[in-house]
Amino acid sequence: MKIIDQFNLNIIFYIFLLPFPIIFFFFFSHFFSTCPRTKHSLNNWIEIESQTWNNYSHLLYTKISANLVLLQSRLSNMGDNSNSTLFSSVLFLSPANAATIDDLLSHLNFLLLTFITSIFFILTKFKFKTSTNSKAMLLPPGPAPWPLVRNLPHLLNNKPTFRWIHGFMKEMNTEIACIQLGNVHVIPVTSPEISKEFLKKHDAVFASRPITMASEYSSGGFLTTAVVPWGDQWKKMRRVLASNVINPSTFRWLHDKRVEETDNLVRYVYNQCKISTSNNCLGSVINLRNTARQYSGNAIRKMILNTRYFGEGKKDGGPGVEEEQHVESLFTVLAHLYAFSLSDYFPWLRVLDIDGHEKTVREAMNTINKYHDPIVDQRVEQWRNGEKKEAEDLLDVFISVKDSNGEPLLSVAEIKAQCTELMLAAVDNPSNAIEWALAEMINQPRVLGKAVEEIDRVVGKERLVQESDFQQLNYVKACIKEAFRLHPIAPFNLPHVSNADAIVAGYFIPKGSHVLLSRLGLGRNPRIWEEPLIFNPERHLSASRAQGVDLNEQDLRLISFSTGRRGCTGIAFGSAMTVMLLVRLLQGFTWSPPPGQEEIDLSESRNDLFLAKPLHALAKPRLHSSLYPLH
Ligand code: HEM
Repeated sequence: MKIIDQFNLNIIFYIFLLPFPIIFFFFFSHFFSTCPRTKHSLNNWIEIESQTWNNYSHLLYTKISANLVLLQSRLSNMGDNSNSTLFSSVLFLSPANAATIDDLLSHLNFLLLTFITSIFFILTKFKFKTSTNSKAMLLPPGPAPWPLVRNLPHLLNNKPTFRWIHGFMKEMNTEIACIQLGNVHVIPVTSPEISKEFLKKHDAVFASRPITMASEYSSGGFLTTAVVPWGDQWKKMRRVLASNVINPSTFRWLHDKRVEETDNLVRYVYNQCKISTSNNCLGSVINLRNTARQYSGNAIRKMILNTRYFGEGKKDGGPGVEEEQHVESLFTVLAHLYAFSLSDYFPWLRVLDIDGHEKTVREAMNTINKYHDPIVDQRVEQWRNGEKKEAEDLLDVFISVKDSNGEPLLSVAEIKAQCTELMLAAVDNPSNAIEWALAEMINQPRVLGKAVEEIDRVVGKERLVQESDFQQLNYVKACIKEAFRLHPIAPFNLPHVSNADAIVAGYFIPKGSHVLLSRLGLGRNPRIWEEPLIFNPERHLSASRAQGVDLNEQDLRLISFSTGRRGCTGIAFGSAMTVMLLVRLLQGFTWSPPPGQEEIDLSESRNDLFLAKPLHALAKPRLHSSLYPLH
C-alpha cells in the first residue's frame, strides 16, 4: 500500500510538472522567433520570462535533487524495511506515506525523466542565447500577438486601422513595425532611410503586390499593372504602358485634350460665379472638392475615352449625374483597395463578407463598367470592321497595340481593366492635393499671395496659364509638394510584397510580407521635417532652387510618385494635371473663406485623410471677362 502511495505521488508529481517545461519550451521558442517587440522591450520580456523560468526550474530541480538524495539514502539502507525520514522530508510527505526499498525501481525511471528535463532546460537556455544574439532573425517590433489569432483582436478593436498603426509606432518609438494578420506579416515603415532600403536596395525582392478582394475586382482578375503581383502579366502590361501608352510622345499628343478640360474647369467655376451673383461676377461659394474631383475625372476620361460626358452633361461645364456617379464609384473602389479588409488576410472569411467591403466594391465596379464597357466594345468593333483607322485617344492605342505576329496584343478584358485602372490611378491624388493646398493657402494669405504673385509675374493677366509655363512656377509647385507631404491621399503607399526572405534595417522580413511605406508617417516624421504639421512650401524651395521644384521625391522623405520597379508610370500626366488644376484656379479667381467664416476649418477626417468637411470657398473672378472660356 505504501509503495503504491509513494509511486503514485511521484508519478503525479512528474506528470504534472514535466509537461510544463516542454510546453513552455515550445511556446516560448515560437513566441521568441516571431515576437514583434522593440529590442528594448524584448530584452525586458526575456528578463521577465527568464525569471519565471528560473523560479520554475528552481522548484523542478529541488524536486529532482530530492529524488537523488532519496535514492542515495535508499541505497545505503538497502535491506532496511523501516520508513525513510529523509525521503519523507525532502518530498514533503508524511512519514505514513514514505516508501520502502522496493520503490527503488520507480526512482530509476525518475532519473531518466530528470535527464530528459535537463536536456530541455539546456536546449531552452541555448535557444535564448542564440536568439538574443541574432537581431537579424528578429521581426520588427509591434504589439504582442495573441496565440493562434496573432494581431487579429487588435485589428478588430482599433478602427481606423491606420491610426492605430501610427499610434502604436509612436508609442513604441519605432520607424518600422510588424503586425501579424493571419499568415501575413504587415510591415509599416515611417523612416526614409528604411524605405530606401526596401525600394532601392531590395527593390527586386519587394516588387510584388498582395492578392486582395478589391484589387481582384478593380483589375478584372489581375489583368492590369498597378495592383498585379510580380509576374508575366505585370511585365506585359507595364511594358505596354511604358512603350505605347504613357510615354513622352503620347503625353505631348494628348496635350490639347488636357487643355480642353482645364479651360472647362475655369469656365465651370466662372459660370457658378455669374449665376449666383446675377451676372455681376462678384463671386460665389464654390464646392472645391467636387470641382477638383470632376476636373480630374474629366481630364483622364478625355485622354482615355475622348469624352467629358457619358450622357448629356451640363451646359455650364459641370458634371451630369453620370459623371457624378462615375467619379463617386472610382473613389469608392479606391477607398476599399487596400483597406485592411478581413478577407485580405483570412481568405476563407471572404464568402461571409463580414465587413461588407465586397458588396460595396462590387456595386461600385458595376457602375464603372456600366459606363466604360459599351464604349470599349463599340470601339473594338469599329477597329475590327475598319470603320476606325487612326488613334484618337488611349483606348485606341490599347486596341491597336500588336504582338510580333501582327495580332492584337491585348484582349478586350485586358483593355477594359487597364482603362479602369488608369482612371483610378489618375483621379484621386491631384484632386485631394489641390483641395488641401487651397484650404491651407486660404488660411495663410501670405502663402496664397506669393503663389498668385508668381503666376502674375511669369504668365501675366493677359492670357491663361499653359503647361509650358510650369517650369517657372516653382513656388506653386512647392505648395503642391507640401500638400503631398502633409496631406497625402492615403495613409500608405500601395503595398509592396516580398517574393523572398530578406534582412532590412537589421530585421528579418519573411517572404510574403506586405510592406506599407507610410505616406503619412514619412511626410510628418518630426526627425525629418521641422514643424511637420505646419504647411510651409518654402521648405521645398531651399533644397531645389537651382534645378526647380520636382514633385517627385526620389529620397522618399515623402511619397508622391514613389520610385523603383513599381514606381508611378504616370508622373508627367499626374504632375501636369495637378499643377494645372491649382494654377488655373489661382490665376482665374481670388479665394477667401465663405462669408461669415473667418477661416477654413482644417480638421482632418478621422476615418481617412480628407478634409473632414469638403472645402467651400468664395471665388471672385480676377481676369478680364474675355479671358474666361465660353465653351
Ligand atoms: C498626382 C498624381 C499621381 C500620383 C501622386 C501618383 C502616385 C503613385 C504612387 C505612389 C504609386 C505607387 C508606387 C509604388 O508602389 O511604390 C503609383 C503607381 C502607379 N501609377 Fe501613379 N500617381 C499619379 C498619377 C498617375 C497617372 C495620371 C497615371 C496614369 C495615367 C498613373 C499610373 C500609375 C501606375 C500604372 C502605377 C502602378 C505602377 C506599377 O505597379 O508597376 N499614376 N502612382
